[in-house]
Amino acid sequence: MKFVIANDHGGLSLVKTVESTLLKLGNEVEHLGSFDENSVDYPDFAQKACKKILENKADFAVLICGTGIGMSIAANKIKGIRAAAVSETYSAKMSRRHNDANVLCLGARVIGTETCKEIVEAFANEKFEGQRHINRLNKIKLLEEKYV
Ligand code: RB5
Repeated sequence: MKFVIANDHGGLSLVKTVESTLLKLGNEVEHLGSFDENSVDYPDFAQKACKKILENKADFAVLICGTGIGMSIAANKIKGIRAAAVSETYSAKMSRRHNDANVLCLGARVIGTETCKEIVEAFANEKFEGQRHINRLNKIKLLEEKYV
């Protein structure tokens, strides 16, 4: 699978951990920035990564900011994006199984590197279960059309 990673200054410290975990699992990874600790705006980086998914240039994105919350709010404004802000492995797994999440959002000021590795592995290894969840995702698509 192809993953893109994007972060703001608050998320920089987890980038290498996310990248190495995904590579170890056999994924292709592209880091889209930001690349240093200068203050940047997380919506710009959320957009950069989500655009790759919408253009079929990536299967998934991992977005990292201080809490994971700003990135998830921004990403979920984009039609076709299902972003999950997660800080433990159960939710990471379920975000793939039930919600078909295509974006994982992490908070570098919330989780440590070991938890980060476990979450990324859980997310990357799970598959969408389909069935009854398809109907629910279709209802989310209807919301995207209704509230533009
Ligand atoms: C940046 O200081 C911080 O606000 C950002 O990384 C993120 O946590 C926002 O949700």
